[in-house]
Amino acid sequence: MTRAIRGHLIEFISAIEVRSWPDGAIIIDADRIGAIGDASVVLKGFAGEIEDYRGCLIMPGLIDTHIHLPQTQVIASYGTQLLEWLQKYTFVEEQRFADSGHCAANAAFYCDELIRNGTTTAVTYGSVHKQSIDALFEAASARNMRMLGGKVMMDRNAPAALQDTAQSGYDDSKNLIERWHGKGRNAYVVTPRFAITSTDAQLEAAGTLLREHPDCYLQTHLAENHDEIRTVAELFPWSKNYTDVYDHFGLLGPNSLFGHCIHLSDAECQRLSETGSIACFCPTSNLFIGSGLFDLKRITDACRPIAVTLATDIGGGTSYSMLRTAHEAYKILQLQGQNWPARAAFHMMTRGNAEALGLAHEIGTLEPGSIADLTILDPNATEAMAHRAARLDDDLDALLFMLMMMGDDRTIAATLVAGQKLHDRRT
Ligand code: GUN
Ligand code: ZN
Repeated sequence: MTRAIRGHLIEFISAIEVRSWPDGAIIIDADRIGAIGDASVVLKGFAGEIEDYRGCLIMPGLIDTHIHLPQTQVIASYGTQLLEWLQKYTFVEEQRFADSGHCAANAAFYCDELIRNGTTTAVTYGSVHKQSIDALFEAASARNMRMLGGKVMMDRNAPAALQDTAQSGYDDSKNLIERWHGKGRNAYVVTPRFAITSTDAQLEAAGTLLREHPDCYLQTHLAENHDEIRTVAELFPWSKNYTDVYDHFGLLGPNSLFGHCIHLSDAECQRLSETGSIACFCPTSNLFIGSGLFDLKRITDACRPIAVTLATDIGGGTSYSMLRTAHEAYKILQLQGQNWPARAAFHMMTRGNAEALGLAHEIGTLEPGSIADLTILDPNATEAMAHRAARLDDDLDALLFMLMMMGDDRTIAATLVAGQKLHDRRT
């Protein structure tokens, strides 16, 4: 079925270049973007249904590159830093995911909440249980949502009920890859939780999985917290540094996402850069768990740049909203004397994250032929936003910045996933 959607179209070509059509229209051909351009041209002679979102910004769906499905009921747990937070809250809650019914209910909530926040793609950690990832991909498939995810591998330093083994972690991951990777819009992410919870044998198995399935992704955590880094040095006394542990087992590369990357040495930055590895900046989590300030300028240093993505890290993170996530990122960079223009932030949330995942041909842009995953933002969503917007005239950068600093789930007027409207604040 062919439909059209009309409003202020905007896409983010790079951190500095924006393309926008103030009165634009997109023709949606089934699940894909067809024609796009000025409404006067695109809608000329168009006889189908036209949805009118004039007054709103229509942009590519937002992408979250690091988030934990089993932590939707861990979010906002009081008073601890990383290692204690894991033991006291996270490892307790994740045990509930042994139950398939619990997995299914949480996966449905999770996908719906992402969509309500304008997020159409997420790179997801499951629990250690493979049923958590079956539930994730089933829920995502039911919504035709682009989803990446993997079951956590962890075979030490966690409650017995949450441990797999090097062999069972390999077998379960392999089975999930065979059943889900490349099926519909699903992709598998090999997921050793972090070095502390995996033995050498398990990290070796993760490397084997990646070599056997080079088009799968890898995700783990890196250099988030000082106690974590000290523990890794004790557990892997042969390693040069934390990054070297993952490097040793063949886990670095352009399909590998490393959550946090706050406390890295120059040598580690060098190695992540030369392998094309990806860093995930998780600002609300880094502030909430008290982990530290991500140094974007240093990580992207032209001498050894590392690809950076933006992510919520629910439930260390405190908001599903990528707008609120960008808001906190801005403040973290401000504290370090770094400016972060809104167009750089929106680029990262859309095309930047898509490019890092190698998916920009499908998501993250308004290119004709790509899948119609679209997020529609209302600058007048709240009284305070409307009041502020009234001062902004036609200043697009100021408007984007206001959306990033004042926006949240209320700002998301509608979300389209593969051409279908799955969220609409009007109804
Ligand atoms: N490091 C290992 N596991 C986790 C997790 O679940 N959340 C965060 N923020 N860091 C981790
Ligand atoms: Zn995480």
